[in-house]
Amino acid sequence: MSSTTSIHGMWSSRLAFILAATGSAVGLGNVWRFPYTAGEYGGGAFVLVYLLCVAGIGIPIMMAEIMLGRRGRQSPINTMKSLAREEGSSPAWQLLGWMGIVAGFLILSFYSVIAGWTLAYVFRAGSGLFAGADAAVAQAMFEGLVSDPERLLAWHTIFMVMTTLVVARGVASGLESAVRWLMPALFLLLVVMVFYAAEAGDFGSGFAYMFSPDFGKLGSRFGEALLSAMGQAFFSLSLGMGAIMIYGSYLNSRASIAQNVIIIAGMDTLVALLAGLAIFPIVLANGLEPGSGPGLIFQTLPIAFGQMPGGALFGAVFFILLVFAAWTSAISLLEPITAWLVENRGFSRPRAAALGGSLVWLLGIACLLSLNVWSDVKVFGKGFLDLFDYLTANVLLPLGGVLIAIFAGWIMRRASSADELGFTERSFVYRLWLLLVRFVAPACVIIVFLNAIGLI
Ligand code: PHE
Repeated sequence: MSSTTSIHGMWSSRLAFILAATGSAVGLGNVWRFPYTAGEYGGGAFVLVYLLCVAGIGIPIMMAEIMLGRRGRQSPINTMKSLAREEGSSPAWQLLGWMGIVAGFLILSFYSVIAGWTLAYVFRAGSGLFAGADAAVAQAMFEGLVSDPERLLAWHTIFMVMTTLVVARGVASGLESAVRWLMPALFLLLVVMVFYAAEAGDFGSGFAYMFSPDFGKLGSRFGEALLSAMGQAFFSLSLGMGAIMIYGSYLNSRASIAQNVIIIAGMDTLVALLAGLAIFPIVLANGLEPGSGPGLIFQTLPIAFGQMPGGALFGAVFFILLVFAAWTSAISLLEPITAWLVENRGFSRPRAAALGGSLVWLLGIACLLSLNVWSDVKVFGKGFLDLFDYLTANVLLPLGGVLIAIFAGWIMRRASSADELGFTERSFVYRLWLLLVRFVAPACVIIVFLNAIGLI
């Protein structure tokens, strides 16, 4: 039988867990990454594949990941080691935990740079800089920021300090109260933005852009689009690198995992769709290019805030809430390595968080330089920021997710998984879950991989 508590602390209630996990899932992935990636692949078809991936792959894998975490009650590396032992399998499964640590480092290094842009935009919005901005002004403003390494470094540093401080104190305390109020506030503000987009933008075209799939438009980029939509689902749900696993390890043994997962994935998806509905009508009404890349929301939202009454205050509040959303995601990215350093190296929590945070900070410098001074340095045709983003979302997270599904579905005894999920082995939901983690999720991921590299 597994232990019932973690040495790193426990969530005070089921609600606290839902809030923390939603805080991890909802972040820049929804508001920044989803619109620009959907825009790169022409909208509808991408969105449809993304939604299918969330439902058919994301939800069952999230259940598996939380289940493994709760049964192991340690950092992902040690959880996988001890669960593999318990199930009579190879200790090599701990490599899954290590892969997650690497993915977490890479993700947080660029995530923090983008969160830095968001911080910068709080002040730009608040100081009334957006007033009357048109597309050209908004673009010039964005380019001014990304071409300035010193400013990027300052914001990146501030964000990493914020993240490290919370992880140093322990995530079980403090996180819930922040998420409890700020997440609904962000949600509300996005709804208001959608209404604004409906009034001032071209809502009909924006809606059609997102929801009428046209696979024909993808042409030779079909495989790439599938991979990116799947990667976006993993990224947005925080799956495949141990963040959700470690949050599961702080969850009490009685809470129903399936129910929680539906709520978390549902809210995450809703926020992404709302962000899309707020952005695309404005993009299309202003003749902007939906596929213009990572700067999309930073070049679009200022136009909206610059036109709407009270836009300075509204814009500042919006970017503050987005910073919070990014913060609660970043915390979950730093937690697995911190917990491992505490467990295996005997570090105090503050020291562990500081070491992890510093390494990420260093790696982040390579990312921010790739936007300007090092813009000629390419690895596999990409600068560091793009490379880390692509490699984690499209390769490491799906791979980690599949290994989690395989472990939960094939290695773990049914008695163990059914017990931990709180189902009987014969129940419909358990059998559906088993079917999805055993066959559907691994097959889909492998087919999409092979297809993207042109093998099928
Ligand atoms: N899900 C977060 C977001 O959408 C990013 C994240 C990815 C967090 C992986 C943890 C692990 O912003």
